[in-house]
Amino acid sequence: MPPLRLLALLIAALPCLAQYTIQRATSPITIDAKLDEAAWRNAASMGDFSFNWYQSGDKEQTVVKILYDDENLYVSWYVHDKHISAYQRQRHGPVSKDDCVEIFIAPNAAKPGNYYTWEINAIGTMLNRNKSDWYTGGATWEPVGVEYKTTFHGADKKDEMPEDDHWIVEMKVPLQNFSHDAAHTPPLDGDQWRLNVNRIGGKTNPQLSSWAPILPPLKSFHSPEAFGSVSFANPPVPAQTRGLGMRRIRFNPADAKAGGEIYQRSCTMCHGLNGEEGDRAPALGAQRRYLRRTSEDLYDAIKNGIKGTGMPGSPIPETEVRKLVAYIHSLRATAVDLEVPGNVARGGELFEGSANCSKCHMVNGRGGIRGPDLSDIGAERSLAAIREALTIPKPFAPLRFQPVKVVTRKGQTITGLLKNQHNSSYQILGNDEKLYLLFSSEIESIEFQKQSLMPANKYKSLPAADLEDLVAYLSRQARSRR
Ligand code: HEC
Ligand code: HEC
Repeated sequence: MPPLRLLALLIAALPCLAQYTIQRATSPITIDAKLDEAAWRNAASMGDFSFNWYQSGDKEQTVVKILYDDENLYVSWYVHDKHISAYQRQRHGPVSKDDCVEIFIAPNAAKPGNYYTWEINAIGTMLNRNKSDWYTGGATWEPVGVEYKTTFHGADKKDEMPEDDHWIVEMKVPLQNFSHDAAHTPPLDGDQWRLNVNRIGGKTNPQLSSWAPILPPLKSFHSPEAFGSVSFANPPVPAQTRGLGMRRIRFNPADAKAGGEIYQRSCTMCHGLNGEEGDRAPALGAQRRYLRRTSEDLYDAIKNGIKGTGMPGSPIPETEVRKLVAYIHSLRATAVDLEVPGNVARGGELFEGSANCSKCHMVNGRGGIRGPDLSDIGAERSLAAIREALTIPKPFAPLRFQPVKVVTRKGQTITGLLKNQHNSSYQILGNDEKLYLLFSSEIESIEFQKQSLMPANKYKSLPAADLEDLVAYLSRQARSRR
């Protein structure tokens, strides 16, 4: 195995502490600050909090668990605390002066700057903010349908007492609050969000701690670049429907094209243009949980409608319904399933030659390792997503591709990508393709650059034919389909 490839594998295998898998709740959850349901007992803790700016005092831990179901996200905090005090009673008041817990959630991993906050003190006063680029409602925010309870919920105040030992917060947040930034609500298996969970305040021993570590020079919980990564686990599809998934369905491109025309004519009073979400009906290309996948199910929905919903049956002749089905398959297809106009061979030459893509990307074991391996990109992504990757820069670098500049205490400067982050160490893939392991005690400063290494800005001005050829080449890279 070539050494670079080995290195890439090593990086992929390294663990990263600020990561958590959110499982589906295994039982109903009552919001009563008790955490006595089987669902909570079965759930894993996120792990120990870090005391980021520690100077002295007792490091009291916080045990946090997160679950979800089709409707809600559930968060629980079990706060070990020998000195519990809280006085703020005003909605959106400065609750972080009191014993207080927080969660900051960014539902789009590529845009951690779009995050929403929940801060709750021990007597149940809550402050919410929305830090996203689309929110125009001012300093505070009203999430819909949130239910929560704390151990001392509704008390006028909570003074410290000798018997103080712990307090609990249990919260339920409807997933619809995240639909603006999340790829799917409810999330699909493997969907990634970013977030941090914090603890702060109180009179005695007011330690600052958080789940994902925040290292100097970052000084605040409001550091989305330091958020940890969570992914959602969704149980696999039952065995009898496996294999009928959209990925393996082939369709006739001419039928799909004809179906598209029928669709634009007959279906867009509810669904959106080009299969997108409309005013009265969902996107047909989107990955919904209750998606109808097989040709038979789609045929049935179009012909007979979907009982109990706004989807009507249709008098369209059978052959036309078949074409609509082909069109819907084409919307859901990954790039390798589709005809592409560009020249695949010429795209490959550009990739390795003048466009210089292989400087950063590996295809079938050849190329650089700073960008993702593209050997299976045609089976992983839609054609639209590949085009977009080449022409629209991401507003934030994705996880594991975050460019950083580190200066060590010894005065060495290392620029590269932050691959992993432990409580007390960073793994950085240098621009020299060497892997650096640095302990936080060795680091003088670390700077996070917003701009991803992927030079999409530059490529959008490539001649249209070159872009099409590159897209064609990438769309045929489908190792898993051979
Ligand atoms: C009067 C509004 C309306 C019209 C017209 C309409 N739809 Fe729908 N359609 C809906 C609604 C609402 C749903 C969502 C039903 C649900 O909640 O499951 C839906 C769902 C569907 C689904 C199921 C999607 C899935 O993945 O589960 C398919 C397929 C579909 N429509 C195809 C079509 C086609 C093709 C046409 C045109 C021939 C069409 N629809 C016209 C309202 C409409
Ligand atoms: C300087 C290094 C660099 C060069 C040169 C480069 N890329 Fe990238 N590319 C990256 C990085 C890093 C990412 C991941 C971060 C991102 O998506 O912004 C990426 C992401 C991508 C993606 C998205 C992958 C996915 O999983 O969705 C595609 C497609 C891609 N690059 C294609 C190309 C092509 C084609 C070229 C040449 C025209 C190219 N890249 C040149 C570094 C580079």
